[in-house]
Amino acid sequence: MRIAVIGGTGKEGYGLALGWARAGQEVVIGSRVMERAVRAAETINAAVGRGRAVGMLNREAAATGEIVVLAVPYDAHESTLRDIREEVRGKVLVDVTVPVDPERPRHLRTPPGGSATEEAQALLGSGVRVVAAFQNISYAHLDQVEASACDVLVCGDDADARQEAIKLARFLGFRGLDAGPVRNARVIEGLTILLMGINRRYKAKGAGIQITGIPEQ
Ligand SMILES: NC(=O)c1ccc[n+]([C@@H]2O[C@H](COP(=O)([O-])OP(=O)(O)OC[C@H]3O[C@@H](n4cnc5c(N)ncnc54)[C@H](OP(=O)(O)O)[C@@H]3O)[C@@H](O)[C@H]2O)c1
Repeated sequence: MRIAVIGGTGKEGYGLALGWARAGQEVVIGSRVMERAVRAAETINAAVGRGRAVGMLNREAAATGEIVVLAVPYDAHESTLRDIREEVRGKVLVDVTVPVDPERPRHLRTPPGGSATEEAQALLGSGVRVVAAFQNISYAHLDQVEASACDVLVCGDDADARQEAIKLARFLGFRGLDAGPVRNARVIEGLTILLMGINRRYKAKGAGIQITGIPEQ
């Protein structure tokens, strides 16, 4: 699978891309700056020992990816989506964005559209199948060769798209769980703020969640 990561030079996007490259997938690192994208791709290739990654500008990366992952700060969410909207037409877009309040980073900024993922779906329209995933996976887990036991909750209005994101989680060694329609992104994004608070109180870096009481997946 060719996976484009918009914001792939950042902590979360880079970690996801590295994991997918380690799992043998092709990755395209997207950035606003070509040099940054190329440098991140070279670092991944050096780490995995194979040429699995290439760097491109965001729009070109979105056009090249078979599936597109968006991992940018909430402040840049809408403008980035507008930039790549033509290139993602007909594809699955996996939104990792958490609407953290930049002035009060311990708080969720309640997005006018309900959640960042719902806003992405509304902006891109029905020609793009948007799902939320990886919001509850700290980047601290992503540079580990061994995956942690955290679950990846996946929601979105298209069941096949949710399965695609579950497959992406599996490539990284995580269990992906179908968390239903896109409106549940409000809960998933909110959980991240809660996990950040738990990290602070327990002096940890990678608090995560695990769902119990369901048949083994
Ligand atoms: N860090 C985590 O552990 C974690 C966990 C779960 C979810 N998330 C969410 O994932 C997203 C990315 O988090 P992060 O920690 O990776 O953030 P980050 O490192 O601050 O930023 C990610 C990338 O976004 C691009 N970017 C930054 N500001 C931008 C702007 N104003 N306009 C356009 N692009 C901009 C940058 O790429 P270029 O400069 O190369 O374009 C940057 O490398 C956030 O929404 C965050 O809440 C993070």
